[in-house]
Amino acid sequence: MKIAPSILAADYLDLGGSASAVLSGGADWLHIDVMDGHFVPNLSMGIPMVKGFSVMDVFQDVHLMIQNPRTYFSPFAQAGASAISFHIEAEPEPLEALGEIKSLGCLSGIALNPDTSLDQLFPLLPHLDMVVVMSVFPGFGGQAFIPESIERVSSLAQRKRSEGLDFEIEVDGGVDITNGAALCEAGATVLVSGSGIFGCGDPSEGVRRIREICQ
Ligand code: DX5
Ligand code: ZN
Repeated sequence: MKIAPSILAADYLDLGGSASAVLSGGADWLHIDVMDGHFVPNLSMGIPMVKGFSVMDVFQDVHLMIQNPRTYFSPFAQAGASAISFHIEAEPEPLEALGEIKSLGCLSGIALNPDTSLDQLFPLLPHLDMVVVMSVFPGFGGQAFIPESIERVSSLAQRKRSEGLDFEIEVDGGVDITNGAALCEAGATVLVSGSGIFGCGDPSEGVRRIREICQ
């Protein structure tokens, strides 16, 4: 199980310190939430943030919640992204987009909103490295986890097994110690957590607690 703390919930006056804290608690990836005020009704961070974290030599999991995501694959890859995920709702040619991310040397991911059917994703599964199952509607941190997401993770994991595929199943939104174990059991392989980790006062301890309940 990989744990990917979402920087969206970090202390913005001490981003380096926040990242170091979660890494020392055993975080595997840093999750970077990019919002454009169009695909989602909020603005967040962008390319300079990824460039900044690149000096830390950490795996940066970039989640693009933006329209026209392909315009930004190359700038994010050059800035230091390790994985890039785009929303299937924002990209009419997802297969080509996945190929483009791979050609830039990054892991390629597709994110789906909670009300987007998994069916349109199934033919793409052999061509991607990661599916991001959104367990809240994207746009804001600190929202309540949508319990039906567990069922979506199970269906995806079942499909992964039956087709003998190997991709990460990442769950993003409202993930914390109350639902982490059920998600692992359902087949999640990466847990993104923002408020669940940075909201608990001690981010290192926040990572350790989630790790503990998954074991
Ligand atoms: C939601 C973002 C999430 C969010 C996770 O739009 O994609 O990554 O920051 O934060 P929490 O864990 O607070 O829901
Ligand atoms: Zn995210």
